[in-house]
Amino acid sequence: VIEYVASAGEQALFRNAHERRTPLLLLGPPGCGKTLLVEHMAAALDRPLVTVTCHDDLTTADLVGRHLITGGDVRWEDGPLTAAIRQGAICYLDEIVEARPDTLAMLHSVADHRRTLFIDRLGETVTAPPSFMLVASHNPRLSGSPKELKPALRQRFATIRLDYLGPAAEAAVIAAATLAPADVAERLATGAALLRDAARRDAHARFDPPSTRTLIAAAGLIGSGTSMRDAIEACLIGPLTADDATATAMRELLDASAVPTR
Ligand SMILES: Nc1ncnc2c1ncn2[C@@H]1O[C@H](COP(=O)(O)OP(=O)(O)O)[C@@H](O)[C@H]1O
Ligand SMILES: [Mg+2]
Repeated sequence: VIEYVASAGEQALFRNAHERRTPLLLLGPPGCGKTLLVEHMAAALDRPLVTVTCHDDLTTADLVGRHLITGGDVRWEDGPLTAAIRQGAICYLDEIVEARPDTLAMLHSVADHRRTLFIDRLGETVTAPPSFMLVASHNPRLSGSPKELKPALRQRFATIRLDYLGPAAEAAVIAAATLAPADVAERLATGAALLRDAARRDAHARFDPPSTRTLIAAAGLIGSGTSMRDAIEACLIGPLTADDATATAMRELLDASAVPTR
């Protein structure tokens, strides 16, 4: 069981937003704990969690529901959003901007004071019970995705900005997730902090910052006998850049620190 480690007051804010029926938009880079926070809060609030991973083919019917034909019978099947509203669940739309604009427009009435979903195929309006909560996530700097949320939708959400944990807390998370020795976890977290700092300053974004998920993968390999050098190459350099010169610069940066790659 992975415990969520808070970086600030995000759990209290999440709880208040649920209480106040305010939809929540989690902003932050990949692998910084957005999904884990939602899972953790759904359990803490004792609500079922319905997760939808958004993509550019996601239609209104995928979210709301559709008529299915089974052996000559036509029956209606609720989509995940409708099901979540009916059961007063937490509905988590992961990477919300990836969904099609017409699909997102349909969320307006769910995300504001109306808290209703009109199902045109059924001629039915479903009203959310107090325990229902809409949560979405978005990585504002996701490389390769220039998409942004339209203001009309974005302004219906309260936002929480999340970022990677500091090195000490992140090392503890890595060690807990992998049973890696403390010094291995610390060196990985220190190296990640260096790379993130460099990625932030690199206007050309030639590499992605390593995520906590990446570090856990590296620590897992090390725990199974892979050397620190090979694990860093496999998890922190290879997947994060496609450019040889950038990879060399990343290795040099780590070598000059407490995280030798050779
Ligand atoms: N704050 C945190 N506390 C504990 N573990 C974390 C935290 N942030 C990231 N992790 C680790 O990184 C993994 C990826 O996090 P995840 O929630 O899937 O990221 P995101 O949804 O932001 O991409 C988690 O499964 C967990 O192992
Ligand atoms: Mg996620």
